[in-house]
Amino acid sequence: MTELANFFDLTGRVAVITGGAGLLGEQHARAIAAAGGTPVLVDIQQQRVTERVAALSQEYGVPAIGRATDITKETEIEALRAEVMDRLGRIDILINNAANNPKMEASTEVNFSRLENFPLAQWEADIAVGLTGAYLCSKVFGCHMASNGGGVIVNVASDLALIAPDQRIYRQPGVPEHMQPVKPVTYSVVKSGLVGLTRYLASYWADKKVRVNAISPGGVYNGQPEDFVVRLTNLIPLGRMAAINEYQGAIVFLCSDASSYMTGTNLVVDGGRSCW
Ligand SMILES: NC(=O)c1ccc[n+]([C@@H]2O[C@H](COP(=O)([O-])OP(=O)(O)OC[C@H]3O[C@@H](n4cnc5c(N)ncnc54)[C@H](O)[C@@H]3O)[C@@H](O)[C@H]2O)c1
Repeated sequence: MTELANFFDLTGRVAVITGGAGLLGEQHARAIAAAGGTPVLVDIQQQRVTERVAALSQEYGVPAIGRATDITKETEIEALRAEVMDRLGRIDILINNAANNPKMEASTEVNFSRLENFPLAQWEADIAVGLTGAYLCSKVFGCHMASNGGGVIVNVASDLALIAPDQRIYRQPGVPEHMQPVKPVTYSVVKSGLVGLTRYLASYWADKKVRVNAISPGGVYNGQPEDFVVRLTNLIPLGRMAAINEYQGAIVFLCSDASSYMTGTNLVVDGGRSCW
């Protein structure tokens, strides 16, 4: 292996990935496994975790493991840490990727995504997963890494950590103004909060060799309606949404020694959307 390839090598490293049963969680796990690391999938969806762990282990020949864990519960995260140490003996990487992506169904009279109708319970649930869950996982796994020679934390933010949602792209024809759907306020708050958490933890653990960075992906193409895709891609200099595997390179970069002099920053991978 060349010296350059060594920088990206994750052989022997164990990476905990929250939201591992989701769309991008699987891609992060593939990236880790392809670089030689061992992914640990964490999600509330037990069956999908089990299926993905089996598929990853077979495809990449790595001892991937998974566990149903609610990251809003500190005791469950502690139990997960104990199990990972028991089964794999080390923890090197944490990717805080889980998020609440609730379907904001509209009733006949109210669209709950809109700020004036957004339920407090939804606000609390979204913050609990996206922000409190990332804080709790960082606390449990970051403290472990800080006491064991170092490690890496990657917080999955969004282009909407840098810019406001352009609510025009979510509009639906023929729907009255007060019923038009919007990107919920919690999305911006959670993603901006993750960038703040990144800076805090990066400076807090710098002397313990725990590097902490964020990644801000743009939207991934996943079969969204064509009119929405057109409106969104008009806002993106590269003129398209991301392919599903297009963040794998950035994830390996941030998790590996290739980014050894980076901490406290936010790697924006958004097709240029936030530069306009
Ligand atoms: N998909 C995109 O276009 C896109 C773009 C930018 C940023 N992101 C961010 O990337 C991350 C992954 O997005 P995705 O599209 O894969 O979302 P997804 O909804 O497919 O995956 C999120 C996963 O988090 C899990 N989860 C929810 N609550 C949990 C809890 N309490 N404990 C443990 N797991 C829990 C869900 O079960 C789900 O599997 C999110 O943070 C999202 O905001 C996604």
